[in-house]
Amino acid sequence: MFVPQKDLERLISSRRTSKPSWFNDQEPDHAAVRNAIEIARKAPNHHRTEPARFYLLDKSRIEEVGRLFGEIVAGDSPDEFLRERAAKKTEEWGSSPGLIVVTCFTDHSSELVAGKPAVIEEDYATCACICQNLLLLLHNLGFAAKWSTGPAWKHPDFRNVVGIPNAPPDERVIALIFYGHTEKAAPSPTYAPIEMKLSDHSNS
Ligand SMILES: Cc1cc2nc3c(=O)[nH]c(=O)nc-3n(C[C@H](O)[C@H](O)[C@H](O)COP(=O)(O)O)c2cc1C
Repeated sequence: MFVPQKDLERLISSRRTSKPSWFNDQEPDHAAVRNAIEIARKAPNHHRTEPARFYLLDKSRIEEVGRLFGEIVAGDSPDEFLRERAAKKTEEWGSSPGLIVVTCFTDHSSELVAGKPAVIEEDYATCACICQNLLLLLHNLGFAAKWSTGPAWKHPDFRNVVGIPNAPPDERVIALIFYGHTEKAAPSPTYAPIEMKLSDHSNS
């Protein structure tokens, strides 16, 4: 019934963020991604609010999101460096073979939030768990992926392009998950020794 422990450890440890500019032209299996979303939702969720919403974009919407992010990066500045950076981002994001926008929906006017404002934070925590589930499932399927919070959502046209029905703060964007395939592998980050992070009183 269970996945061998070592396999799960290797899966978690080997997942890496990949830049969308590394993705090749191989068309992703979007049906597999859809199934991964279905499974990823099964994360801990206080009050069973099911806060995550997913928007699985097609090529034209991905291009649009790239264009909008370019406009956000460039702003009103005539600065040549910023304009170049914006053009790069438009190209990098807009040519990604796949993109999932994950949002967190919490009805701020609900009785639940009135009685327990912490629900807002707890809903975000659930969505973050779901994103990690998704990244691991994609990784196991052989996809490369990146969780980005690049603020494309600040663009006034973003919600319309993606099809997000609710305004913030009720529905907020928490992740743009770019996915595709690549031959490149990012180096593993180094982590501080566990002794610096864990206070282990289990044997006292
Ligand atoms: C909430 C969140 C937001 C992130 N936003 C960005 C981002 O906007 N741009 C980016 O390059 N990486 C972003 N990342 C990816 C991290 O930079 C990446 O996880 C980190 O460098 C560690 O690399 P690893 O994922 O390969 O372990 C984000 C990750 C998380 C969890």
